[in-house]
Parts: sequence; structure tokens; C-alpha cells
Amino acid sequence: SRRKQVDETLFPFQMSQEQLHLVKSRMRADLEAGLKNKNPSTIKMLPSFVYHTPDGTERGKYLALDLGGTNFRALLVNFKKGLHQNTRLYHKIYTVPMEIMQGTGEELFDHLAQCVSDFLDYMGMKNAHLPAGFTFSFPCEQTAIDTGTLLTWTKGFKATDCEGHDVVNMLREAIKRRNEFDLDIAAVVNDTVGTMMSCAYEDPECEVGLIAGTGTNVCYMEDVRNIEKRDADAQRMCINTEWGGLGDDGSLNDIITPYDAEVDQNSLHPGKQRFEKLTSGMYLGEIVRQVLLDLTRGGLLFRGHVTEALKTPGIFETKYLSQIESDRLALLQVRSILQQLGLDSNCDDSIIVKEVCGAVSRRAAQLVGAGIAAVVDKIRENRGLEHLNITVGVDGALYKLHPHFSRVLHDTAKVLAPLCNVSFLPSEEGSGKGAALITAVAKQKQQM
Ligand code: BG6
Ligand code: GLC
Repeated sequence: SRRKQVDETLFPFQMSQEQLHLVKSRMRADLEAGLKNKNPSTIKMLPSFVYHTPDGTERGKYLALDLGGTNFRALLVNFKKGLHQNTRLYHKIYTVPMEIMQGTGEELFDHLAQCVSDFLDYMGMKNAHLPAGFTFSFPCEQTAIDTGTLLTWTKGFKATDCEGHDVVNMLREAIKRRNEFDLDIAAVVNDTVGTMMSCAYEDPECEVGLIAGTGTNVCYMEDVRNIEKRDADAQRMCINTEWGGLGDDGSLNDIITPYDAEVDQNSLHPGKQRFEKLTSGMYLGEIVRQVLLDLTRGGLLFRGHVTEALKTPGIFETKYLSQIESDRLALLQVRSILQQLGLDSNCDDSIIVKEVCGAVSRRAAQLVGAGIAAVVDKIRENRGLEHLNITVGVDGALYKLHPHFSRVLHDTAKVLAPLCNVSFLPSEEGSGKGAALITAVAKQKQQM
């Protein structure tokens, strides 16, 4: 029957407790291997040169630039004495067109410089020569807080002549080419690190930063004695794990479905970021589309009509998945969303589509939960604790906007890390505030 065939198709997306435990232990093993500089390690474990979470003494005005999520953002952050509420924040959002993401490096950085120029005009601060923090949400090898060599593009970016180059330099050069304003870029920061710092400003127990958005990644405070490239003075350093690379050596092949394989093959970076491709906003809609295509070809959906709409990569953006899965939505409304996407459905179709979305997003949340369990258990063991209380600062549209993702993630982390009491704190103003806090500390050090 139709019911049975749909269930069979969705069965591989169901994760057993045993499978989730396996994912947790593979994540743990690769976190350790990455720290020991084992080559090749799927998880890069990149030092951030951030040694402390904020202590509330940070002061001053900073510019923060934020590239790599859905949009490019420019912010002005002002930390004043006294209560945290005194943080003032102004921001503007810019879109980065796909031609720019996948054009030349020079075009990309010229575009960023142009957005910064527009923002400074808007704020009336062209001549202020502000210190700036740059949130750059891609894997960067850092040797100091203000340099970062792009190792490889991920997500939807593929601009030429950037990999292997210092992204701070590329931004400086673009600003020089404009010859119109000055910027003192004092820090380059991954979005996970910026998010952890933003949230730690509110909650001192926040020592993990999680992004569940276009991409997925985690950072956390690691003991310096466990880091090969150590810095003698400090006790801890924040590590950008780049956990999206888990599985790039085949270690997740037992859970990867043919639909996932198809999505990977059609992606901008085939074979890379396999964990990310099972768990993040940029890919979930594509997995759903592959399943729907298969069900339709099998005559189980849309009366067997494979339409142009269904063949269009990218039609199922995360926001549609979130809407389709909302429990407040009647099936009739699900049908009207599908209609907007160019898909003619009847009532049964809409039920099945909702089930497919649910299976894909639930697996994603469980996998991220298993990853979080690995990270917090590692922190607990590092500190020799029987029990750990810890806060995870979180950002990303999947976490913030999806109706079930966050709950499933919380529940899974709880079951898989029973000795940790994990709280999740959504970041209020994005990672920019965190980048500004890091910039404040970097500037204080320069002046010492
Ligand atoms: C934003 C942060 O709020 O969330 C960015 O400021 C981050 O630094 C982004 O990259 C991640 O979410 P998404 O859904 O835009 O990828
Ligand atoms: C990708 C990037 C990583 C970033 C994450 C979330 O995984 O490689 O640096 O933190 O997306 O934006």
C-alpha cells in the first residue's frame, strides 16, 4: 500500500538510540584526533586565540562585520560602563548575491568594502577610524587574533583566489583599493566564537557556541594542555571545531541515505562537510526534494507528475520547511504553501510532504544533539567533574525559526549526556557583539 511504501522510504531517516550513541562517539574520537593534529583529521579543531569569555570590563565603540550566514551584516557596538543593558547596537543588513559568492575573490571583498562604506556613510562615521572585528564564518587557520588563512570554502561560497590567503589582508586590500576610509581590523572570528562570546556576556556559564543555520558548527573552551599548538600562559582557549567535516572519511556512511548522497553530489563542494549536509539549513530542503522526487517517480505523490518546480534545486528553503512543519498550520495551509512553490497537491500529498519534512529535520536535530553531547562530555571529563553545568550559546535560522528542531536537539543532548546539565541560550543580536568584545580585548592588549 501507499502508506507502507512511504514508511519504508522514510525508515532510513529514523535514528535508533544505538546509532545516535555511535555518532556521539565518532564525533568524540574526531574531536580528539583534530586536537592532536592527526593527519588527516576530518574535524579541523582550529585555535581561535580567544582565551577568556568576557568579564564585563570591555569598553568602547567597535565596528563588527559579519559574513557567512544568510546575510552580510555591519554593526556598530558601544560598550559602556555599568549595566550590560548599556550596550548600544546599530546595524544594517546587506545581501550577498550568488554571483559575488561564486565570482572572484577581489569582487567579493570589493563588495564587502562597498557595504562597509555604505554603513559608515549611514552612521556618519566615515572619518572615525574605528577598530573592527570581522566575523568570517569559514574554516580559517589562525596564528594570531588578527590573521586567518582561509583553508577551504564551505556552504554556498566558492570565490576564486581566496583559499590559502589571509582574509584580513584581503579585506584591508579591498579597503585600500577604495581609498576612501580607514579601518583597523583587530580581530577575525568564526561565527560560533562570536556567538559564544555574545552569550557569555549575559551568562558566564556559556562556554560553547553552536550555529544551526545555513551551516552547522561548534566551538568550545578547551584546556590548553590538550592543544598541540599551545600557548604557555593561558589555561584555556576557544577551539573552532569545524565539526561539519565529520564523516568526510566515510565514518557516517552507515547512516547516509541515497538521498543524502545525491544532495552531496549536486552540491558546490562534493564529498566535503558530510555532517553539515545532514544537519543544516542549506541542505535539508534539498534532501526533502530528493525524497519527494523519488516518491513522485514511484507514483506515490502528486499523481506521479514530476513537475519543473520539483526539479528545481533550492525551492525548499528552510523557511518553508519551518512553515510546513508548524503544528498551528492546517493541512489546507500546507497545500497553499506547496501551491506557492508551484506544486499542486491534494490532501494526502500534503500529509506525506509534512511527514518527509519531519523525518529529515528530526534526524538533523538528533545528530546535532549527539554532537553536542560529545562536546559537553569532553568538557566535563577535561575538568574531572562528575557533573557539569554548562550553557550553549546558539544562533542560526534552523534553531531559531524551526518549530521542532530546538526541542529535539535539547532532548537528544539530555539523553546522550546524562551527566551534563546543558542549557541553551539563543544569541540576541548575532555574533557581531561577540566579535566586538573580542576586538575590545585585542585593543586593550595592544595598548598594554
Ligand atoms: C547570525 C550571526 O545571527 O547567525 C552570524 O550573526 C551567523 O554570524 C548566523 O553566521 C548563522 O545563521 P544563518 O541561519 O544566517 O546561517
Ligand atoms: C560552515 C563553516 C563554519 C561555520 C558554519 C556555520 O560549517 O565552515 O566555519 O561556523 O558553517 O555558519
